[in-house]
Amino acid sequence: MREDKHSPWWKKAVVYQVYPKSFQDSNSDGIGDLNGIMQRLDYLEELGIDAIWLSPVCKSPQDDNGYDISDYQDIDPMFGTLEDMERLIQEAQKHHIKIIIDLVLNHSSDEHFWFQEAKKSRENPYHDYYVWRDGEEGTPPNDMRACFGGSAWEWVPQLGQYYFHQFAVKQPDLNWENPKVRAEIYDMIRWWMEKGVGGFRLDVIDQIAKEPDRKITNNGSRLHEFIQELSQETFQKGDLITVGEAWGATTDLAKLYSNPDGSEFSMVFQFEHIGLDQQQGKEKWDLAPLPFKKLKKIMEHWQKELFQCGWNSLFWNNHDLPRIVSRWGDDKEYRTESAKMLAVLLHGMQGTPYIYQGEELGMTNVRYDIKDYRDIETWNVYRERTEQGYETSDIMASIYAKSRDNARTPMQWDDSANAGFTKGEPWIKVNPNYQEINAKRQLRDPDSVFHCYKALIALRKKHDVFAEGDFELLLPEDPAFFAYVRTYLGERLYVICNFYGKTEACPLTEAWENMQLLYSNYPKGTDLNTYQPFEARMYLSTNDIVLVE
Ligand code: GLC
Ligand code: CA
Repeated sequence: MREDKHSPWWKKAVVYQVYPKSFQDSNSDGIGDLNGIMQRLDYLEELGIDAIWLSPVCKSPQDDNGYDISDYQDIDPMFGTLEDMERLIQEAQKHHIKIIIDLVLNHSSDEHFWFQEAKKSRENPYHDYYVWRDGEEGTPPNDMRACFGGSAWEWVPQLGQYYFHQFAVKQPDLNWENPKVRAEIYDMIRWWMEKGVGGFRLDVIDQIAKEPDRKITNNGSRLHEFIQELSQETFQKGDLITVGEAWGATTDLAKLYSNPDGSEFSMVFQFEHIGLDQQQGKEKWDLAPLPFKKLKKIMEHWQKELFQCGWNSLFWNNHDLPRIVSRWGDDKEYRTESAKMLAVLLHGMQGTPYIYQGEELGMTNVRYDIKDYRDIETWNVYRERTEQGYETSDIMASIYAKSRDNARTPMQWDDSANAGFTKGEPWIKVNPNYQEINAKRQLRDPDSVFHCYKALIALRKKHDVFAEGDFELLLPEDPAFFAYVRTYLGERLYVICNFYGKTEACPLTEAWENMQLLYSNYPKGTDLNTYQPFEARMYLSTNDIVLVE
């Protein structure tokens, strides 16, 4: 891809997130693995993506599915070996795909060598790699709560100290104040860069500069100092795509994170349009309803604020979020139409789109018996609420809507047993709808959700207005339409989506008949102003006369 300081390659790129445990099993142990991903590179090349963001595959006791790393420079045997990883990087390259790895730098596993040493004594050279406070058993330093429930402080009797953990007890927070910790991390990142990875996703990066004494978790006062040093010592030595996960990002902070001068990252994941609160404590855990007009406003705000002074990541889904078609779409009657509409809406915007595995098939949420859930967060919520006396049916309703396992069910490849994911017993049950929703079927059907995503990816590469155009929201107060126009050098890209399941007349009165219909999720109708349920169209107008010197 073209390298040009003013227009980095990732501005036209589309990234595909692989959750390795659930993507493809190659050795029938029921767990997806690196060799499985290699078997599916043809499929990903067909879709047209430029990079795979691989959720963590490093050595880990898997208490939080790999977001608890015990060795940053080795692969968990469950996924394969370091040689397999090196081969995946090479093989993917042959398919024009880069590998982005997931760096979990806020915390390690308690089984990491550093922590094993750190808890031996206060004098141990690794002690200060983590965040400790003196105290007395039963009286933690303060009342901070961990994201997965319970106190954020864990007592270690042999030291007479507590350690700080923002996530599970088995995920002790690393002490970024310690320059030795930072230096070790940079060495490790450069080692991965030498292996040829194409970029990094940085887990909960806005939480690294914690200040527990002031009860500060994200956006600590030294955060951007740490990130700039990290970037300078590592990423800036390569031509990488980097994306930080930042639940607490505002547009002002995002301008720092994604400063076009390259001093921090390429972009961040912010979650305002998802409408979840960053603290996932118990009362805030439920999926909060987000009003439609507010969604429009939030999207508009991010598109406008970052224009030419930052860069957006565009996503509906990831391994922590329920399936978008089950949330904003209609996963029954209009599953195909609404999945495509949501794709069109997002892929017309400025930024780098991320597709989460199975989203390109319109995969849906699940409703399992509690015993069939696997996620640590889901189980913690279930236990806490049961203890607090909630009705089981209420707890389950929350879990159906919000559980991270909605995204973690096996990828649906075909209609054979276990959806072609494994020949063994899958680690988590397959969504029972795999006979209807699967990749094999959709590859053959030109009207499938898969082919919609493929078309949208190709359009982004073909027309510069996708990457470069400005953004204007149309019909901001309209209760049914989400519409906007992007303009770049006389090209105007109109994106018009009927967001709901009722036929609607569109109040816009442009001369659609003079424009090129780039994409539509319905056969071209005669009445240009009537939109079917979840109908989405993209028009391109090149009528304006522009003088380019
Ligand atoms: C991020 C990850 C999530 C993980 C958490 C702790 O939010 O996306 O899966 O549980 O960080 O590492
Ligand atoms: Ca396996």
